[in-house]
Amino acid sequence: MMLAALVGLLCASFVTAMGVVGIDYGTESMKVSLVKPGLPFDVVLSRDSKRKIPSAVAWKMQERLYGSDAANLATRYPGDTFLGAKLLLGRSIESVDDQARLRQSELLGSQLIPSVNRSSVSVKRETDYTINKEGSDEYTVEELVGMQLSHARTLAEETAGEEVIRTFPGSVGTFGGLDVVITTPIFYTAAERQALFDAASVAGLRPKLVSDGAAAAVNFALTRQFTKPERHLFFDSGAGSTRATLVEFSTKQVQADSILSIGSTQKEATVIQVLSAGWDRQASGLALDILLRDHLAGLFQTQHGSKLAKPVKDQPRAMARLLKEANRVKHILSANADASSNVEGLADDIDFRAKVTRDEFESLADKAGLRSRFGQPATDALKEAKLTINDIDSVIYVGGTTRVPLVQAALREAGVPDAKIAQNVNADEAAVMGAAFYGASFNPQFRMKTIRAHDGNPYPVVLTEEGKKPDVIFPGGSFETTQVVRNYTDTTSNFGFQIDYDAAIPQAKLDTFEHRLYDVEIQEINNHLAGLKERGEIDQVDISVNVTITSRPLGVYAVESAFMHVKQKPGGIAGALKSFFNVGSNAVAEDVDDDDEAAEGADAAATTEDADAAAEGAADTKKDAEGDETSEKSEKKDVKKKNKKALPTDRSIRLLARSIPRGSVRPMSGAELKAASDRLYVADVEARRKAAREEAQNVLEAYIYRARDIVHETRFIESSKASEREAITAKASELSDWLASQAEEADTSSLKLKRASLESLIQPIEKRMREQGTRQGSLDRFTRAQAEAREFLQEARTNLTKALEEGVASKYSLAELDGFQTQLDKDLTWFQDGEKEQAKRSKDDDVAIKSDDIDRRAKKARDTMARMLKRRIPKTRPPKKSKAPPPPAKEDKPAAEEPKKKEENEEKPKKGHAHEEL
Ligand SMILES: *[C@@H]1O[C@H](CO)[C@@H](O)[C@H](O)[C@H]1NC(C)=O
Ligand SMILES: *[C@@H]1O[C@H](CO)[C@@H](O)[C@H](O)[C@H]1NC(C)=O
Ligand SMILES: *[C@@H]1O[C@H](CO)[C@@H](O)[C@H](O)[C@H]1NC(C)=O
Ligand SMILES: *[C@@H]1O[C@H](CO)[C@@H](O)[C@H](O)[C@H]1NC(C)=O
Repeated sequence: MMLAALVGLLCASFVTAMGVVGIDYGTESMKVSLVKPGLPFDVVLSRDSKRKIPSAVAWKMQERLYGSDAANLATRYPGDTFLGAKLLLGRSIESVDDQARLRQSELLGSQLIPSVNRSSVSVKRETDYTINKEGSDEYTVEELVGMQLSHARTLAEETAGEEVIRTFPGSVGTFGGLDVVITTPIFYTAAERQALFDAASVAGLRPKLVSDGAAAAVNFALTRQFTKPERHLFFDSGAGSTRATLVEFSTKQVQADSILSIGSTQKEATVIQVLSAGWDRQASGLALDILLRDHLAGLFQTQHGSKLAKPVKDQPRAMARLLKEANRVKHILSANADASSNVEGLADDIDFRAKVTRDEFESLADKAGLRSRFGQPATDALKEAKLTINDIDSVIYVGGTTRVPLVQAALREAGVPDAKIAQNVNADEAAVMGAAFYGASFNPQFRMKTIRAHDGNPYPVVLTEEGKKPDVIFPGGSFETTQVVRNYTDTTSNFGFQIDYDAAIPQAKLDTFEHRLYDVEIQEINNHLAGLKERGEIDQVDISVNVTITSRPLGVYAVESAFMHVKQKPGGIAGALKSFFNVGSNAVAEDVDDDDEAAEGADAAATTEDADAAAEGAADTKKDAEGDETSEKSEKKDVKKKNKKALPTDRSIRLLARSIPRGSVRPMSGAELKAASDRLYVADVEARRKAAREEAQNVLEAYIYRARDIVHETRFIESSKASEREAITAKASELSDWLASQAEEADTSSLKLKRASLESLIQPIEKRMREQGTRQGSLDRFTRAQAEAREFLQEARTNLTKALEEGVASKYSLAELDGFQTQLDKDLTWFQDGEKEQAKRSKDDDVAIKSDDIDRRAKKARDTMARMLKRRIPKTRPPKKSKAPPPPAKEDKPAAEEPKKKEENEEKPKKGHAHEEL
């Protein structure tokens, strides 16, 4: 709540995003946050109002489920429930080694298969629904994750009341909408990041990526001041891995990049730099769960093995239940020395009962070599940054697995004393909160603390040209820039280079991923050179090429652009002209279309003035060259005609850069992305349609039940006729028959129409019942209002008469008092007639006059009275001439007129006031 105050919105004339969604997509669960001006900054709740959403997708027949609905199916339909998909992102099917494959196939329930046309991983549902309307029952990992991200997006959009922007974050010119930031483990390789990004694209998102350590650091920095630099180690142990991120915080003057501050304003900012990171992909909460699960399975097998049809480890449902149980037991053991485990009918209807002690659990972890692996990331991060624990201000726990005593012990054993552990930091949601703030830090419209966060890059990236040594383009450590420009002079042909991870990175750090990332080919240079040659320009110009390489999203590398620059050789004009006059009739500017940046012609031509030999030709050339860009094409045409008027102009030509991914998994192609996101979109629309239909059917069913009950309720019977109740009962049973036989085919609107047909029979009777409740109050209010109004009238008349006699101004005119009287009389007659009529009716008839109408008339009388009473007495003019009183008619006028204006003015506020009175 306090943080919400930090975020405000400036009214700028052009707006990028109006909010940022943070998604912390974890192996076991994901969290979603939203920062949007006007809303409290908080996590977005799941459908069942939880702050954490299991990272799961499942199918029950043809219905797709998410979150806990999906996770709960794991034990019943393990083959149709997909968990832990994050572990497979970016991996090739071959690289899923036996151990990982086993672990993941247990988690994912189903079989892993290669994706169509790609070596990445897909899953296949165990249940084959050939009539599945969504298409095949195979899903790529990107699709599985994409569906969950799409679910996260839906939740965030519902909370924000606004949609996510479908373009890259921060695109100027988009109005409103939400940006998205997704966390990644810092150790994610380019392939994994690409897969995560592709998954987001399938879900219609164009997110920024941020490492979870950096996100947690942003969250940490928001509420703190750093008068001197501080270093903190974010130790994050989650379900999927453990990582330690070393971050430096400082306060520095930075260039204000607000769209509102023109010029070079300096601004004080908190600068966040990720210095280094350590990690272990195996040291995870999940690994502990699996260890415990296998232990429990072993106990069960020992106890009941002889009675089992199949060993318990070969019974997927039992193993899925044990995995859930293991997770529960692990949590208990975090706070207790022992835990009892109890699973009813685990396998072959045999109950499982056992006790596990923390000592047993820890020795299992020791034996598996897991314990020390939990501490190693902290050691690695410090070593990488060449720092010791004494250089660190504190260690901050992030992630659920840090609550496991064995993990804390491992950190202690790695040399982190307890005194260094920061207390009172909300670690569970640090990353997801920080992710949204990280996104907001790029948008000057969020009036929050100025933060410059430089995420970390654990893998230095090198560029290698043929025959040359690799050149580091993105060094490891803090990401200072996401873009490098390479300049090439003396380019004589198409060329290529490789972008790779630095060979010095040990393979163990890359897990099963390769060092090689991309082969890049810069093409079309040959064509353009040939064109220059043909025009005879080749000797007069310098050729240079520049290639821009970006890391956007962070950690994914791509060539953003390549340009060839053609520039006149300095001082070469004499030669240039000579060659110019020698050029034959072939001087056709072939690449006119590419000359979009040929703006520097005028400059170049200016130099021709110095060349005395240039005489008439130069003058003409100068004139031509000074023509503005728009006339350039016609100018070129003139050149073609006259044959003798061309000089090469400076220009930049966009080149084609082809990047060929070299990792074993290639990114999804545009067509594959489109197909996947269409498929997901269709499934989403179908799911929404189905949900709306189901809702309509549920409402109808409930209404039919209610109709059946209501006809037996005493009050309802009193207020209705037998024939009416019979009609309701008949309708209800007609609808219920219809539901039983035809509901399957019925769409939402026919379900709603059916409900309306029953409502039209019940609602009039409910109205009668309501009237019975409100009637007496209305009668009383009306009678009171009439009495008071009449009393007022009498008094007003007396005062008016008195004023007339005294010849002074009166508050009232005779006409308005008469008018009021008439109104009151008319109301009374209407009321008395109504009451007479009502007396003839019984409770099961509709009422003669409705309470609402009675109240309206009472209110009107009160309003009129109140308005007149509130009026000020007009100033009395001293009688000017004789004592003769002015004719009453005239006297009436000013009194009546002046207040009338006031009446109009007061009309509106009056209403509200009168309302309170009732
Ligand atoms: C796989 O490749 C073949 C041949 O190139 C193509 O026809 C097919 O559409 C591709 N399938 C997918 C799912 O992209
Ligand atoms: C390439 O040229 C640009 C612009 O002249 C310059 O800023 C940049 O430093 C150059 N890069 C290299 C690697 O020389
Ligand atoms: C390099 O190319 C970019 C376009 O990506 C251009 O803006 C820039 O001026 C070029 N730099 C040089 C040195 O030519
Ligand atoms: C009539 O005059 C008396 C005395 O001036 C005043 O108190 C009273 O409110 C007036 N009544 C009305 C209805 O204006």
